[in-house]
Amino acid sequence: MRTLYVSTEVFPALKTGGLADVNAALPSALAALGVDMRLLLPAFPAFSKAATGLQPVAQLAAPMLAAPLRVLRGALEGVPVYLIEAGGLFERDGNPYVDAAGRDWPDNALRFALLGWVAARFADGAIDAWRPDIVHAHDWHAGLAPAYLAARGGDRPGSVFTVHNLGFHGEFAAETFSQLALPPHFFAMHGLEFYGKVNFMKAGLHYADRITTVSPTYAREILQPEFGFGMDGLLRSRAAVLSGILNGVDGAYWNPQTDPHIAAHFNGADLAGKHACNAALRRECGLTASAGPLFGVVSRLTAQKGLDLLLDTLPGLVAAGGQLVVLGSGDAALEQRWQACAASHPGAVSVRIGYDEAFAHRIMAGSDVVLVPSRFEPCGLTQLYALAYGSLPLVRRVGGLADTVTDATAAARASASATGFVFDEASATALGDALKRVFMLWREPKDWARLIAAAMREDFGWAASARRYLALYRELRPQA
Ligand code: ADP
Ligand code: GLC
Repeated sequence: MRTLYVSTEVFPALKTGGLADVNAALPSALAALGVDMRLLLPAFPAFSKAATGLQPVAQLAAPMLAAPLRVLRGALEGVPVYLIEAGGLFERDGNPYVDAAGRDWPDNALRFALLGWVAARFADGAIDAWRPDIVHAHDWHAGLAPAYLAARGGDRPGSVFTVHNLGFHGEFAAETFSQLALPPHFFAMHGLEFYGKVNFMKAGLHYADRITTVSPTYAREILQPEFGFGMDGLLRSRAAVLSGILNGVDGAYWNPQTDPHIAAHFNGADLAGKHACNAALRRECGLTASAGPLFGVVSRLTAQKGLDLLLDTLPGLVAAGGQLVVLGSGDAALEQRWQACAASHPGAVSVRIGYDEAFAHRIMAGSDVVLVPSRFEPCGLTQLYALAYGSLPLVRRVGGLADTVTDATAAARASASATGFVFDEASATALGDALKRVFMLWREPKDWARLIAAAMREDFGWAASARRYLALYRELRPQA
């Protein structure tokens, strides 16, 4: 089975969110099952620097470019990789999608069309004489790959499109369609046109042979208007080829027994190291010594993550004796609200705006509770990291959060299956009620310890999910 894995972020070279973590782990997990997995990425400087053994393997004339582009082959963290070099389109430092001021690069349509176009050229055997059986494209950035394959027709690879976040569409003015070198009839309702615009997400959803998303619950939710971002009708029409496959945790990297970033190591049988991490985190963040629970947040600060609900509930959390550490970045207005909140709760609330990998690990290890009150959450990884570190997740019952955290109801506690706290309604009241349950359980140390033990017993490794992707590839290409 040969699979070309088309995306834009891979941890640690380049990361803006959980997509990068998935792309760092899933290809290796599939390779371990015998798949000939190769990544296709734009030659962002971070990838060109991190890749080893890069050699040019093809020069291609793309219809949308004046000069030929180059494809280089090498390896990224041990996985074979192809990088696309296209005369400065990708060779820009920083964020892959936006400029230093946070504005979308004006040529994004062309940049990411090219990613999809090159993916489809592999079907011709024109690149490295390697013809994939499957082209697996991720999120809108790679959404045109299935469209170019469909346009090519003939004996072509099967296409799988994975939705990591339906909230980002890759939408461009109608005029950009003429740059894409796709058949004119593709710009239609039954195509990649969406309310008069070109929509890369819709292209992936419409043209892929199979659609997956990153949890079973999110796969159901996106069929409803509430979670569908306007795509729910199309998704309902394609429900027969849509499935949800849960993300996993890279257990070699997120492991409290070996994590190089944390104050002390620990495991489910011996939590002394966790207590040391907790004390170290409170010290590092300038929090006063306290017998109350320490809450942690590691998150993009956007409406998706529901952290405005937490801001509204915070006085109650602090009054009950809780403390909070927040690490995040994103919307300027939310960043400001969080900073103001820290200023008004000195010694109890600590906020760091920015991106800090090592600090994220210290929060996961040192927190008693990790908060993820998302409005929607395709999968979510931080609640999985929290479980692995015995930090009980408090989450909203949506998407992958609903699939991975077992609420501490009386029944779940009795059967020792409870691993955290789950609430339903996206309101400060509902979150506040869940926090009250946290404080009640905090006063029962034996019960609390049982939850930690159950959380740390959970296994969200990649092996099972990789097997499900392989089964999907086999559905499309039984002979491979
Ligand atoms: P999303 O992809 O929607 O942002 P996920 O939970 O899937 O959400 O993944 C988020 C990833 O980004 C996790 O690895 C998390 O630790 C990391 N992360 C988010 N914000 C920060 C930050 N400010 N500093 C360091 N890591 C962060
Ligand atoms: C997206 C989603 C997140 C998911 C990640 C990786 O960024 O918001 O829920 O875990 O992709 O699939």
